[in-house]
Amino acid sequence: MYSEKVMDHFNNPRNMGEIEDASGVGTVGNAKCGDIMRMYLDIDDSGRIQDVKFKTFGCGAAVATSSMATELVKGKTVQEALAVTNKAVMEALDGLPPVKVHCSLLAEEAIHAALWDYAEKNHITIEGLSRPVSDIGEKEEDVEEDY
Ligand code: FES
Repeated sequence: MYSEKVMDHFNNPRNMGEIEDASGVGTVGNAKCGDIMRMYLDIDDSGRIQDVKFKTFGCGAAVATSSMATELVKGKTVQEALAVTNKAVMEALDGLPPVKVHCSLLAEEAIHAALWDYAEKNHITIEGLSRPVSDIGEKEEDVEEDY
């Protein structure tokens, strides 16, 4: 049911933890399943993500997608990180079962929320970034129709 990569990231999550005095922190949840994900970004003066950590209180797929998402944005610029969609995270994990697609959306949204926090703290606008939602429950319905 789950790919080897999903199982690997679930059993050995990368970048789990938190960053003190992070440049940006984003927390999102899904009221339907009750899962919560928090992302911490450490962004340097040139706008590059030097470090990223996550904490996920959620299902195995949410842990695996958080872990993969942190790997995909680490070392990237803010703009590049913005382009890491839930689809990209799923592809990097060799797919997720359809009922678990929404878990990857939590990862995408948590990164966006952390970027939003970073932008607000620094009084900047990140092109293409819109205000993140704190509950992805509504977005989830749109996404599941696409898969
Ligand atoms: Fe809710 Fe996976 S079941 S994030």
